[in-house]
Amino acid sequence: MVVLGSLLLLVAAGLVSIASAKPTQTCRYLPGDAGWPSSREWQALNRTVSGRLIATVPLGSVCHNKGQFAAFDEGKCSALRTEIVEAGQKTFQSQPNDPMNGYFETLTCSPFTGSNETCELGERPVYSIAVKSAADVQAVIKFARENNVRLVVRSTGIDYMGKSTGKGSLSLWMWNLNTIEIIPSYKSHSYSGPAIKLGPGVIAGDAYAFAATKGYRFVGPECGLVSVAGGYTQGGGHSQLSTAYGLAADQVLEWEVVTASGEHLIATPEKNSDLYWALSGGGGGTYGVILSMTAKAYKEGPVAGGTLLIPNTNDTAYWEALKIWFHQTPSFVTNGKNNVQFAITRDAFLGFSLTLPEQNSSAVSALVAPFLRDLDRLGLTYNLTTFDSPSYIEHFIKSYGPLPYGALCPLYVNLGSRLIPRSVVLDTTSNSALLDVYRTILSSGDFTIGCSILNLTPSSPSKPAHPANAVNPAWRNAIAYCNPQSPWDWNSTANSLETKRRLVDEYYPALEKVTHGSGVYLNEVDPWYKGDWKQNMYGANYGRLLAVKKRYDPDRLMYVKFGVGSDEFKFDTKGRLCFGA
Ligand SMILES: Cc1cc2nc3c(=O)[nH]c(=O)nc-3n(C[C@H](O)[C@H](O)[C@H](O)COP(=O)(O)OP(=O)(O)OC[C@H]3O[C@@H](n4cnc5c(N)ncnc54)[C@H](O)[C@@H]3O)c2cc1C
Ligand SMILES: *[C@@H]1O[C@H](CO)[C@@H](O)[C@H](O)[C@H]1NC(C)=O
Ligand SMILES: *[C@@H]1O[C@H](CO)[C@@H](O)[C@H](O)[C@H]1NC(C)=O
Ligand SMILES: *[C@@H]1O[C@H](CO)[C@@H](O)[C@H](O)[C@H]1NC(C)=O
Ligand SMILES: *[C@@H]1O[C@H](CO)[C@@H](O)[C@H](O)[C@H]1NC(C)=O
Ligand SMILES: *[C@@H]1O[C@H](CO)[C@@H](O)[C@H](O)[C@H]1NC(C)=O
Ligand SMILES: *[C@@H]1O[C@H](CO)[C@@H](O)[C@H](O)[C@H]1NC(C)=O
Repeated sequence: MVVLGSLLLLVAAGLVSIASAKPTQTCRYLPGDAGWPSSREWQALNRTVSGRLIATVPLGSVCHNKGQFAAFDEGKCSALRTEIVEAGQKTFQSQPNDPMNGYFETLTCSPFTGSNETCELGERPVYSIAVKSAADVQAVIKFARENNVRLVVRSTGIDYMGKSTGKGSLSLWMWNLNTIEIIPSYKSHSYSGPAIKLGPGVIAGDAYAFAATKGYRFVGPECGLVSVAGGYTQGGGHSQLSTAYGLAADQVLEWEVVTASGEHLIATPEKNSDLYWALSGGGGGTYGVILSMTAKAYKEGPVAGGTLLIPNTNDTAYWEALKIWFHQTPSFVTNGKNNVQFAITRDAFLGFSLTLPEQNSSAVSALVAPFLRDLDRLGLTYNLTTFDSPSYIEHFIKSYGPLPYGALCPLYVNLGSRLIPRSVVLDTTSNSALLDVYRTILSSGDFTIGCSILNLTPSSPSKPAHPANAVNPAWRNAIAYCNPQSPWDWNSTANSLETKRRLVDEYYPALEKVTHGSGVYLNEVDPWYKGDWKQNMYGANYGRLLAVKKRYDPDRLMYVKFGVGSDEFKFDTKGRLCFGA
């Protein structure tokens, strides 16, 4: 009966075609389609979730006088523009409607285009649900399945590829699930020790502050805006504590999840272990909806820090020095604790955070001493500063600025990504070829390359073992991730798109050529990326991830750009999300 009932529902929803011999294409409905749920049906859903259904009004509506959302108001529009340019974090994170990314924000109803341009939803969801519980998620999944509506999941909305937004979608907005808990003695088959439990609505900056009051640190991002339990940890999650403890995905003890098929489960290395494996590094928004994550925490302790600035006063000497720096990077992280984060432009090298857990500042000086001798020999001036902090949190604030956000939050950028293998920098010839590509990328002056040196080899002396997970194996051979990036120019979409084109057509391929067989970080890729994304983002794990995806999302409710299984979908000319023949 139940089976027959749901089959009839599927037929009614136009999902299956019994009469035709060939399987037909299914497309999720858009507003205006005959099959789009009626307002009565939306209101029934609204009652099911206790009135927490939100109809999207784009932020930029106050800047437009044409289209369904026209609400032009010169004062409000100009205030919005200033807010976005000066401090867009709060603007975007406190609402469910707009993605926090220059490109997606500009596609339609941009706050920065002429008022006569029509304001349309574009890639924004049509409705969002302010989720409070697993039951809400289950109700929304059921509604989306029965009504053939596209589903998306959003915690902060900062995803660079727009994976937390989608045309014609109903969005699970996880922002209000914001509880933080320290568990001083978590016990499981494979771990006993402190842990932190986070809802997906908790941003890293708030979690850092909370953990610090209890005397703990954990593996989290350099930017406080990110949801730790959201796309960050599900996609791998790098940190300035990664050499010491591993990636964020390596820390997970349990996931509380409602699967795409609507089951409310706990996934651990022992229970629902295939789902645990996939959620830990296999990408957000793909297998299920996370309600909470429990991960390892560590007792706070001293951290030595430092900065190193080298202005480019002699181009030949500068690029020679950079080659030496990259070649030396493996020696910086051999002790299994240190991370070094730096940025290069054509004008300067800025080593803005040397992070040496459990050490003092004399170790920082000792670490870079051989390199400084090279700088002296090359006649380059530099400024090294060192400092000691009693805890990681104090070190973080000194290095990245005040909580909750810190200063390393490049919101509006065209961003590339490449994992640099240790073998490439150790070999003089391939190291030189890599630096030649960086020099070309930086020569135009509009790009910066942000890098972080780390060591994720499981055999590093002091790193705790982690359960098997779906982290891209390329991370384990990487000495650094390096991300070419260029600020989004709100004044000129044409300029911004030209930068994007150069990034995907020229820079990515050039970098892939000199780091052959490595990968990219799936959370820090441009949506126009044209490489072999399955291989570069998931490596050898792809096949197994696809099997997990099919087991937990048999009805293909969850689609994200470059997500596992996403190549089985396509978009029709109206932008409907489709699958099937
Ligand atoms: C300014 C900035 C700084 C960054 N710094 C770092 C860094 O230091 N280290 C690092 O590793 N990464 C960093 N990132 C990348 C970051 O990891 C990704 O942007 C990540 O996708 C953010 O996850 P989110 O949940 O906050 O974002 P969202 O945009 O809300 O979601 C991202 C993806 O995760 C999915 N998702 C979100 N919540 C859930 C949930 N509850 N259940 C299931 N799926 C969910 C979404 O569907 C989407 O696919 C940074 C990004 C930005 C924009
Ligand atoms: C959902 O119901 C609440 C409470 O009745 C109401 O305030 C809200 O506007 C409704 N949402 C939509 C999209 O109609
Ligand atoms: C907007 O359109 C109106 C009517 O077509 C026109 O009079 C006005 O000049 C336009 N404004 C801009 C800024 O293009
Ligand atoms: C620049 O550096 C190179 C390499 O160290 C050196 O040979 C050259 O003399 C320097 N040029 C100037 C103007 O100092
Ligand atoms: C710093 O650490 C080194 C090595 O552990 C130690 O010898 C030295 O005394 C320490 N310096 C200070 C100022 O604590
Ligand atoms: C070196 O850098 C520090 C920290 O940024 C700064 O305070 C100091 O003035 C700099 N020194 C010189 C000589 O530029
Ligand atoms: C954009 O324009 C504003 C105001 O005209 C100006 O202040 C700002 O510097 C410009 N930004 C860029 C990136 O050109």
